[in-house]
Amino acid sequence: MKKLALRLLVGVVILASMNGMAQRFAPRHRPRVIAPPPVIFAPVPVQPVVVGNVPTQPVVVAPAAAPAASPLLLHGPWLTYPDTEAMTIGFVTAPLCGGGVEFREAGTEMWYQLWHANAGKLVRHRQQHSVRLFGLKPNTEYEYRLVIAPPLTRTLDHTLFNQKDPTVMVQRMERISSPDYHFHTFSDQPTLYTLSVTADLQFPAAVKERILRNYYSNGGMGASHLFAVLGDGDNVFDNFEYSYMKTLVDKIVQLGGSHRPSLFIRGNHEWRGMESDLWCDYFAAPDTNSTYFSFRCGEVYYIVLETGEDCPPYLMTEHFSGDNVAEAQLFAEQNYWLQSVVASEPFQTAKFRVVLSHTAIYSHAEKHMHDTVAQICGDLFKKQFPQNKIHLWISGHTHCYCRTIPGASMVYQLDVPKYALYSGEDYTFPCVTLDGPGGGGIENTLLNMSVEPDRLSVIVKDEAGQAIDAFAVLQDGAILDLNNNTLPAKQVGVTYHP
Ligand SMILES: [Fe+2]
Ligand SMILES: [Fe+2]
Repeated sequence: MKKLALRLLVGVVILASMNGMAQRFAPRHRPRVIAPPPVIFAPVPVQPVVVGNVPTQPVVVAPAAAPAASPLLLHGPWLTYPDTEAMTIGFVTAPLCGGGVEFREAGTEMWYQLWHANAGKLVRHRQQHSVRLFGLKPNTEYEYRLVIAPPLTRTLDHTLFNQKDPTVMVQRMERISSPDYHFHTFSDQPTLYTLSVTADLQFPAAVKERILRNYYSNGGMGASHLFAVLGDGDNVFDNFEYSYMKTLVDKIVQLGGSHRPSLFIRGNHEWRGMESDLWCDYFAAPDTNSTYFSFRCGEVYYIVLETGEDCPPYLMTEHFSGDNVAEAQLFAEQNYWLQSVVASEPFQTAKFRVVLSHTAIYSHAEKHMHDTVAQICGDLFKKQFPQNKIHLWISGHTHCYCRTIPGASMVYQLDVPKYALYSGEDYTFPCVTLDGPGGGGIENTLLNMSVEPDRLSVIVKDEAGQAIDAFAVLQDGAILDLNNNTLPAKQVGVTYHP
């Protein structure tokens, strides 16, 4: 009986202390809502966005205001994996911190709370935090803030389990807010927006930052609604924090990355180095828990493919890591996933389809990577399956700008092609390959793709903001050539392997 009374007393103490903690942590006079299920937002009809011409004066996404100052927050927050009803917020904390996000629809009172948790427990033994917000309304503005649980400072004494101790019972949380912490969910209706893409930023840190800032100011990145880094963000990943977080992600966050979603896509360089296996700790895609994913924005369906290293997984050479031995598993898994994506209703009903990957399904000269993409895609996107038609494939890797002209042995390039390319006969959509350091041509390029009611309008620029190529893809796949040899990229002949 005594034992039962003691247990009841302990239960009351725990509930009382939890209640006290909740009251201290909750915003005053506002109810606290924990872990909202997808139904927290009642379905509301979304007004279709009026379709018209592309705005001549797009709203420029402001760079970050004052960076949020907290010794507990080391990187981010960055927005990624956008969708019509979801958004992922990533950030890196000091060691042994827990982390979460509070968010609400702009202009409303109620904040909702989601934690980076595993089976109900805060994840403390990983500094990389990722919180997927779900059940959101399409085409709606949200604001958010971070909540960080600092490291625990003492262990619990289980002999004192019925003794109140505020240092244990009231967990101190740090809430981090900023005017930059907001986002707009993608629309599921026809809508005008711009995607900016660059690739192969394998430059010294200062050059990488200069290029990004110039793209932001001169190239159109500042006005884009979605930004993608298409692989080779650095040369090698022996130190992930330096190679990718400090020299790339931090810079993107400073250029609006807390309120404009970014896609961080793995190239072959991200397969190299002693810490290259950390990629998914930072950037695992929500549905696949891997490096490939798909999503829909307005009338465009995007497929992001993982195209691997540029050589087979040799066992520990000077250059290539033997740790890539499992790549074949990844490609087979990806092929299985891709078949279901192509059969899905969002893909089949999309007006436009765009693929983003570090290398291309055709128009590149490297056999290993060509074979890899062929293994992933099979025949899905070949011309005998018009129901799966792709409108545009955007890639990088070769460090030579190139845009194919479907159905012809001609491409737009800045140089004369040096090698025969692969598989041009099988595909009816254009492949763009963005530039990179060395390799002839220029050092880097930014592609801006505007999604318009009847076309994808594409302009590719150099770091100074000068156009080097331009074209548009219509819904039926026809290409409007807006270059016609008037821009630096010129039509040249090319040889395709069968
Ligand atoms: Fe590269
Ligand atoms: Fe590459």
